[in-house]
Amino acid sequence: MSIKQRKKDHVDLTTSGQVDYQQTTGFERYRFVHNALPEVDMDDVSTRADLLGRTFSFPLFISSMTGGYTDAGAVNAIIAEFCEEYNLPFGVGSQRIMLENPEAVSSFAIVRERAPNAFIAANIGGVQLSGGLPRSKMRMLVDTIEADAVIVHLNPLQELMQPEGDRAFKGIQEGIARLAGQCDRPVIVKETGAGISGEVAQRLLDAGAKVIDVAGAGGTSWAKVENERKNNRSPQHQFDDWGIPTVDCLLQLTELKETRPFEIMASGGIRSSQDIAKSLCLGAGFAATAQPVIKVVVEDGAEGLKSLYHNWRRQLCIILTLLGCEQIDELERCHLKLKCQER
Ligand SMILES: Cc1cc2nc3c(=O)[nH]c(=O)nc-3n(C[C@H](O)[C@H](O)[C@H](O)COP(=O)(O)O)c2cc1C
Repeated sequence: MSIKQRKKDHVDLTTSGQVDYQQTTGFERYRFVHNALPEVDMDDVSTRADLLGRTFSFPLFISSMTGGYTDAGAVNAIIAEFCEEYNLPFGVGSQRIMLENPEAVSSFAIVRERAPNAFIAANIGGVQLSGGLPRSKMRMLVDTIEADAVIVHLNPLQELMQPEGDRAFKGIQEGIARLAGQCDRPVIVKETGAGISGEVAQRLLDAGAKVIDVAGAGGTSWAKVENERKNNRSPQHQFDDWGIPTVDCLLQLTELKETRPFEIMASGGIRSSQDIAKSLCLGAGFAATAQPVIKVVVEDGAEGLKSLYHNWRRQLCIILTLLGCEQIDELERCHLKLKCQER
């Protein structure tokens, strides 16, 4: 199967809503502690948030998704124009396809054309780095979109579920260290939905990562996506639920943050502004989401995306007000209570 067809299948399957994890993110374990005396005027509440030294209108990164097949340029253009207008950061989909198909370049280049000032991150697989991606090729990927950061995605589970996927995972940490040493852009490392543990995060920080995006379990299951693509009763379906829940990743990384400085991004199953707020209470500086964005873009285009943003932003303002906070950096662990501790 061609890489272009695979990219298209990914969008079709994830927008169908049939490929979520059965296990949950863990956000449902927590309830907000209501503040009946908030002493805050909602008009004074700000949702501004910082990531890698830049300030954005809202703590939401549009996760890496697509590029390279016929309709991908149109999807990327809609997301790019939206991010330019609303000042949100955005990651393009894996640019590996550009290395193999020069005609795929335009569906990525359009992002910078439509978003001249937005924060845009390049994207490449850890597996490509372990194979010794030449510096000139990495430069080309970054230059095509004038990237502000480089995202490296780790996806061993997804690769192992793909009949045509990679099987060799040695040397990825070294590849990331090489990239971080050579590249003048900050390196963000993410999973694709199976989660990053505290121990793995430690090794990624040793390699030079500046931001860890946990991309934990509870949202889109990439094992399930790949197994559905096989269009049969695959015995590999037993792996559909494999992964570390997003909240467990966040708790492990927050602990690590006490010993060394880095930025935590929360993703994997972020489906509402309550999920975003809970992520920030649990120690993330920013959240990210993929599936809700691709679904709304495919179904309702740019207007749908704007409406999602306005709804989530207003809801986050309500949450902040009800917790007695004017700024998102006032959100803390004490604003949450574990439901199992309630009497
Ligand atoms: C259609 C689609 C394509 C994706 N392609 C990529 C990709 O090329 N590179 C990458 O790092 N992650 C990719 N992802 C994974 C997301 O960035 C994200 O980590 C994952 O879907 C979990 O987030 P979610 O539960 O909000 O969907 C893709 C996600 C979707 C929905």
